[in-house]
Amino acid sequence: MKTPYEIIAKKRDGKKLTQVEIEYFLNNFLNKKIGEGQMAALLMAIYLKGLTPQETFFFTKAMLDSGKNLSFKKKSVIDKHSTGGVGDKTSFVLMPIAAACGIQVPMIAGRALGHTGGTIDKIESIKGFKTNLNLKKFQSGVLKNNLALIGQTKEIAPADGLIYSLRDVTGTIESIPLITASIMSKKLAEGASGYVMDVKYGSGAFMPDLKSAKELASSLEKIGILFNKNIMTVISDMSQPLGNYVGHSLEIFEAIETLKGHGPKDLTDLSIELAAGMIYLGGKAKDMTLARKKALKALTSGKALEKFREMVKFQGGNIKFLDDYRLFEMAETNTTVKSRKSGFVKSINAGAIGLHLIALGGGRKFLGDKIDHGVGFHFHKKVGDKVKKGDSLLTIFHHNKQRQVVTEIEQDILKKDIKISSKKENQSPLIYKRKVKWGRS
Ligand code: URA
Repeated sequence: MKTPYEIIAKKRDGKKLTQVEIEYFLNNFLNKKIGEGQMAALLMAIYLKGLTPQETFFFTKAMLDSGKNLSFKKKSVIDKHSTGGVGDKTSFVLMPIAAACGIQVPMIAGRALGHTGGTIDKIESIKGFKTNLNLKKFQSGVLKNNLALIGQTKEIAPADGLIYSLRDVTGTIESIPLITASIMSKKLAEGASGYVMDVKYGSGAFMPDLKSAKELASSLEKIGILFNKNIMTVISDMSQPLGNYVGHSLEIFEAIETLKGHGPKDLTDLSIELAAGMIYLGGKAKDMTLARKKALKALTSGKALEKFREMVKFQGGNIKFLDDYRLFEMAETNTTVKSRKSGFVKSINAGAIGLHLIALGGGRKFLGDKIDHGVGFHFHKKVGDKVKKGDSLLTIFHHNKQRQVVTEIEQDILKKDIKISSKKENQSPLIYKRKVKWGRS
């Protein structure tokens, strides 16, 4: 067996690592024989020289095997993963839609990362909702109601948790093989037979452009197939926030309204498309056209809303929140930003909005910060909309003591974050590309 030094040097020189070498390195990192210095060196070598799909598979497998895995007998167990965005609350809409169509959804989701929001932080806006069920209870929720939602636990791919924090401080986050292994090791632990991967690109996403989103989609697909999973990759636009609301309580409110059939078009369309992908992968429809029809019916019939209610109840959440929005924690005041120009909305910088949310306390500046669920934004105009001078662009929900930060946000929004042009410009499509690959399972 090569020494850790030789393994690092091998990757540094651009050579392929074997499964035994990768397992040896990760396992000895976990049992602390290999320290952070050597792991950081290997991560940087991987960042610079890359990993082949086969090596990425070995890396993913070693991370997956570092923790517990669930397993389900049925083939209709399917989950969705999003690479993260601003205003992305599709999970709360598509999970119950897919569940109402006979798909079992075991979703293990993350908290906020950088400027992107976290599913787990958002659902905690519903008082009492437990996101830390143990794996046994989580699995029983999936079997009983077809859906359950928990946060990352120490039992799931613990190697990823340790490596992720190291990548965060060593400039090695933006590596396609490392991102792939990190995402897939956590998702594969759910034991689903297929996954819909929503790979987002644009200012509010991790992948800034279409090229890198395509690369990530292809890498996720390859690894999914090597694990014999059915994979659908969807590349979607994240250059403006998804839906009309950004902020924790506001996003759950908007998701519930969408489940009641009053959602904005972009959020409804993307949720239907992703849920249809899950229905198709899970064998509950023979093609995507039928799957979309089923998904839409589950939404319009109110069945999806009932599934969401069952999940909230099962996980200890107060179901009154679904009917009485006054129960949500909300900041005590708001400020509406008005347009200084007439024309058409050309762009809304989703990444900047994500950072403004953090500035208001609706995100973490430091690890362990408590999130303020009551702050956020309501967009009255989206890209392509006509605006007149004096029209409301958006409303900021904030606390009285935050006047200074709100003034700064308002200035940024008017100066650079929302651009108005005299002509209506072509909009990028919400869904750029969809692709299905069947594994052997
Ligand atoms: N999300 C993850 O889970 N891991 C990454 O490396 C990047 C995004």
